[in-house]
Amino acid sequence: MEYLEVKGRARLGGEIDVHGSKNSVLPILAGSVLIKGESVIHNCPDLSDVRATIGILRHLGATVKKSENTLVINAESITNSTIPENMMQQLRSSIIFLGSLVSRTGSACVYLPGGCEIGLRPIDMHLSALKSLGYSVEFDGENICCKKGDVKSAKIVLPFPSVGATENAILACVFIDGKTTIINAAREPEIEDLISFLNSAGAKIRGENTSVIEIEGVSSLHSTEHTVIPDRIEASTYMSISAITSSELLINKVNHIHLAPNLEPFYEMGCELYLYDNSLRIKPPKRPKRVKKIETGAFPGFPTDSQAITMAVLSIAGGSSMIKENIFESRFKHIPQLMRFGADITAVDSRAAIIHGVNSLHCAEAICTDLRGGAAVLCEALAAEGTSVIKEIEHIDRGYERIEETLKPIGADIKRKDDEQRS
Ligand code: UD1
Repeated sequence: MEYLEVKGRARLGGEIDVHGSKNSVLPILAGSVLIKGESVIHNCPDLSDVRATIGILRHLGATVKKSENTLVINAESITNSTIPENMMQQLRSSIIFLGSLVSRTGSACVYLPGGCEIGLRPIDMHLSALKSLGYSVEFDGENICCKKGDVKSAKIVLPFPSVGATENAILACVFIDGKTTIINAAREPEIEDLISFLNSAGAKIRGENTSVIEIEGVSSLHSTEHTVIPDRIEASTYMSISAITSSELLINKVNHIHLAPNLEPFYEMGCELYLYDNSLRIKPPKRPKRVKKIETGAFPGFPTDSQAITMAVLSIAGGSSMIKENIFESRFKHIPQLMRFGADITAVDSRAAIIHGVNSLHCAEAICTDLRGGAAVLCEALAAEGTSVIKEIEHIDRGYERIEETLKPIGADIKRKDDEQRS
């Protein structure tokens, strides 16, 4: 098994580029199934989740060609409408194929999706959105089978602005006659990106950025070209690396509007932030100040995906900070791993934690419990005295492209090794 060896306290600095957004490209790839033609997608990150999604597309009958960061998907012929357990379980966003597949072929049978274990992550809202449109849905607790039947436009009211349910609902009604309205839709930038991709192919969707999305059914979509937005969570990871190592960084290829909910806690920590056209310069203080309270929330709230990496920074802040996790019910699995480095964190319950800043961190051997928890462990290791070992890095590889290579130009000393290389 591969692991990372991280020499902490290396002197970091310079510029770093952000890749295309993982959470944008995955639903866009699922959406490409709706197009009887070519989707040319630029700025695709090379991640294990993207490779798994390409595997699903090929299994469904699409052809996928890759040239550097561009994917060309041809979904002229879709020959399969089932996705087996082993493919579905590789990632959470595999569930987004349910809406696109049933919309394109009239039927879809898929297994429950996988993804990070950060809570129960039910799919009830996805299924009830499809049912509101008239799709028949059978779910035996593992397999979900959905058929088109007598579908018609509808008003879908989501009880919570779920990102995935909003994406599935949009994809399921692109071809339904009349106007469908999604009320209490998620407003995350990745939804806006999916809508902009679909509209570029001829869909008629309005309301990106708002909690009411209107979809006017069209009869078909045509070939298109689209560039994926920058990954705001990757950008926020570099902000955390800067703050925890007290290293000035210039983070390139960012979208400030998408990143806006992340900025406030960093100001509070005492970081100076300079916003340029598509870049962000962060000048952190010698030691971050404590932050009174960070609460995660649906966009434009503080992203739950940035919770663990920000907690890592607060572990060395001057004073105690509080983090409240409002989106997922068990997203604190990284805490025991951060404590291996000497962090002092008390989980008040499964949703609130108090982080007592310590003066310094020491090297440790730790595991990645999930994607962002893994990134938080990496932040600790970069700031710790000595050489740390991070295991179960397949989680990190789901959302960060060859992290050791990406961080090398800014001076990080990280080596990817496998067990045989371990003395
Ligand atoms: C997406 C992101 C994930 C991010 C999350 C919240 C992708 C691939 N993943 O996940 O990185 O952390 O948004 O910003 O884009 N829920 C239900 N029933 C449902 C659906 C969701 O109860 O049918 C609950 C979830 O358990 C969770 C909350 O709603 O508590 C938000 O989940 P959701 O927005 O759906 O997250 P994902 O789409 O899974």
